[in-house]
Amino acid sequence: MFLKIRPTPESIIKTEICVKFLSNQAASLKNVIEEEPSGPSMKTSIPGPNSLELMSKLKNVYNLGAIQYIVNYEKSIGNYIIDADDNVLLDTFTQISTLPIGYNHPALMESFKNQSNLRSMINRPALGVYPGVDWPKRMENILKQVSPKLSKITPMMCGACSNENAIKSAFMAYKARERGAREFTEDEKNSSIMNQRPGCPDLSILSFKGAFHGRTIATLSCTHSLYIHKMDIPSFQNWPIATYPLYKYPLEENERENKEIDKSCLEEVEYLIEKNKNICPVAGIIIEPIQSEGGDNHASPDFFRNLQAICKKHSVILIIDEVQTGCGPTGKFWCHEHFDLPHPPDIVTFSKKMQMAGFFHSEETMPEQPSRIFNTWMGDPGKTILLETILGVMKSENLLDQVQRSGKRLYSGLEKLQNEFPELLHSLRGRGTFIAVNAHGRPLRDTIINNLKKNGVQSGGCGQEAIRHRPALIFQERHVDIYLDILRKILKEISGRN
Ligand SMILES: Cc1ncc(COP(=O)(O)O)c(C=O)c1O
Repeated sequence: MFLKIRPTPESIIKTEICVKFLSNQAASLKNVIEEEPSGPSMKTSIPGPNSLELMSKLKNVYNLGAIQYIVNYEKSIGNYIIDADDNVLLDTFTQISTLPIGYNHPALMESFKNQSNLRSMINRPALGVYPGVDWPKRMENILKQVSPKLSKITPMMCGACSNENAIKSAFMAYKARERGAREFTEDEKNSSIMNQRPGCPDLSILSFKGAFHGRTIATLSCTHSLYIHKMDIPSFQNWPIATYPLYKYPLEENERENKEIDKSCLEEVEYLIEKNKNICPVAGIIIEPIQSEGGDNHASPDFFRNLQAICKKHSVILIIDEVQTGCGPTGKFWCHEHFDLPHPPDIVTFSKKMQMAGFFHSEETMPEQPSRIFNTWMGDPGKTILLETILGVMKSENLLDQVQRSGKRLYSGLEKLQNEFPELLHSLRGRGTFIAVNAHGRPLRDTIINNLKKNGVQSGGCGQEAIRHRPALIFQERHVDIYLDILRKILKEISGRN
């Protein structure tokens, strides 16, 4: 047993680490799974007394509204999150979908035992000005291993700032096309400083109802999931918002209707591009391959291929936001690989499971002048080192295959539950382990998620009524079975059946 800590708030801060686990150099997935607890175990209600005590210390300086409980990150391991009261929960939500190889993976722990990696991290460079001797090789490695057939990479800090700068790149590319070889005029230079035309032109990004692209100012104008994200923030009024396909499930029984939905959404996109031409031309379209925060809304490969054709026809830059879908959870490295697009997208943004954030992009979307897409750090070598390690583990452990296997089992298990409890669940959908199922209404969805937590499963919701599954890539068939057993027990209790 690796837990050796008496659960008091003091011991949580000065806790001993699990030496056996962390010093395991030849870490394979098997080792990681062997070190996990055999299943969830709950000692207190959540948040428990230790969590509450620590939260009371934060209360005066921190908005506690969204905090569920305090986590012991030294004890959390593999697919299990362990809280300050030693409650052990199977984690199907993984820090809002950001942990690709689970908690405290030994390969990640090893990364910073390497002195040169450690130095890259502690001497944090302004990468846009003073990259280290290791940086060209690291960028080359990342591009070679995972670029979605795009030749450029721009590192950033988080999902929103990756999208924010992708949007800026689309505007710059649009104007560069118009300007051709000529330099900026004096009028453009002077007017830009004062937020006026022609230096600050009327250009727009088309986004979709239900989308979530972040909470910075431009991305917020493209975000349409919850009012609470947007309230009181001025927005770009002339940026068009199209309808994202919302299909009827099961897909096999609603093919004709869903095709009609695709058609009408695509017609709307083209109509909005035309309509905006003389008001605020559309320079770019930003879209999630699966709308995640907005409720796990899927659009068909056909929809995406046609959307790309519309972009090509109207010279609009296509930005695919893979912040939540990227790095393997759908069973392919990038979700848009499922769509078989005839061309790579112009820009693909990433963050979350990648640890490193930023965007891959085409030559055309790389501005000629320096410092236009720029900030102080331009990323963080520490996060890039973690990504390199993650990619190594994904490859050596065939984690995309694991995701496909676990996804299949999870999907068929949920399908059985949906058939068994049709009064509770509907509209199962997903790719890989990136699977969601709806409850009939938000109160029921929230009850299911709360009861899962009481029974040792950390899960998450999205949209109005979806239960979303975002386990780590190391979530195996055995974890699927543990989860489904607990979910079934809860559904049975809620339905009042014996
Ligand atoms: C698709 C998508 N884009 C962008 C973001 C914003 O990322 P961040 O929270 O890192 O700014 C999110 C976050 O959930 C997301 O799901």
